[in-house]
Amino acid sequence: MSVDLTGIALRNPVIIASGTGGYIGEVADVLNPSRIGAIVTKSITCEPRDGNPPWRVIDVPLGMINAVGLANVGLEKFLAEKLPEAETVDTVVIGSIAGNSVADYVAVAEAFNAAATLPAVELNVSCPNTDDGLQFGEHPRKLRELLSEIRPVLTRTKMIVKLSPNVGDIVAMAGAAIDCGADALTLMNTLHAMAIDVETRQPRLSRGSGGLSGPAIHYLAVRMVHEVYEGVARDAGVPIIGLGGVMRWPDAAELILAGASAVGMGTALFVNPRLPLKVASGLSRWVDKQGCASVSELVGQVQA
Ligand SMILES: Cc1cc2nc3c(=O)[nH]c(=O)nc-3n(C[C@H](O)[C@H](O)[C@H](O)COP(=O)(O)O)c2cc1C
Repeated sequence: MSVDLTGIALRNPVIIASGTGGYIGEVADVLNPSRIGAIVTKSITCEPRDGNPPWRVIDVPLGMINAVGLANVGLEKFLAEKLPEAETVDTVVIGSIAGNSVADYVAVAEAFNAAATLPAVELNVSCPNTDDGLQFGEHPRKLRELLSEIRPVLTRTKMIVKLSPNVGDIVAMAGAAIDCGADALTLMNTLHAMAIDVETRQPRLSRGSGGLSGPAIHYLAVRMVHEVYEGVARDAGVPIIGLGGVMRWPDAAELILAGASAVGMGTALFVNPRLPLKVASGLSRWVDKQGCASVSELVGQVQA
């Protein structure tokens, strides 16, 4: 079940998605980290952020919508108080970075590059740039501008780019990330969504809209992983972390067949934080049943 993610050895392909499992060590309260492939930290910004006021996470049929607003302790406190947990937690830790300007991202990237316990960083590019309000991950030119500044800073750690699904041409965005030196891609972040309370006639989230995740987005994720794998990633040799609505092992297996080398889980943890263990063991049985020696043999093997 071991996976080579751009030179980083994962014990198995199951990864805890950013923002859904605490900073680093919290998941150890509910599951043994040595039984999962990796944990992605909460997205860290240069300055501390309180995030949006409640309600900022709501339950909807087939998933949830969140507008947490990147609440986090900020870089300085993260380095001092949270990052040391990466030394004791028995799995790979990937540092997630967010920001509202290129300079914000670069500052966190420099600090994470200097942290020996983070073999890779994941760039959450689903954030608006305060200069023009445009999201870095929704415009190829903005994505290129951002990545071309971050790439030279990451001299030691691998650069994983987490793509936004809120675009017309996901293959073009993936291509832009690969051109700018992405070592791996994560697909995908949440979809822009809105829920309304029909009694009060107000949006259910304080911010109005938020990001939809969970089973509602799974088949979109499968399609996007497949298109990106076939369109650019396979030929470039850039692995994909498939992410979106994985609740059961067959969901993870679909993403692998579509082209994902590893599979993230987020919303599932809010239902049952031990589900990643069930998915990992279910995948292992599936690999055996398919007559394969390694899960990697099944990456991109959909017979389309
Ligand atoms: C409550 C919540 C908080 C999240 N916070 C982050 C975050 O800080 N950074 C990030 O890159 N993605 C964040 N995400 C997105 C997830 O990592 C993931 O991309 C998305 O939820 C789709 O996967 P899922 O359907 O398995 O949840 C968050 C998702 C949820 C539900």
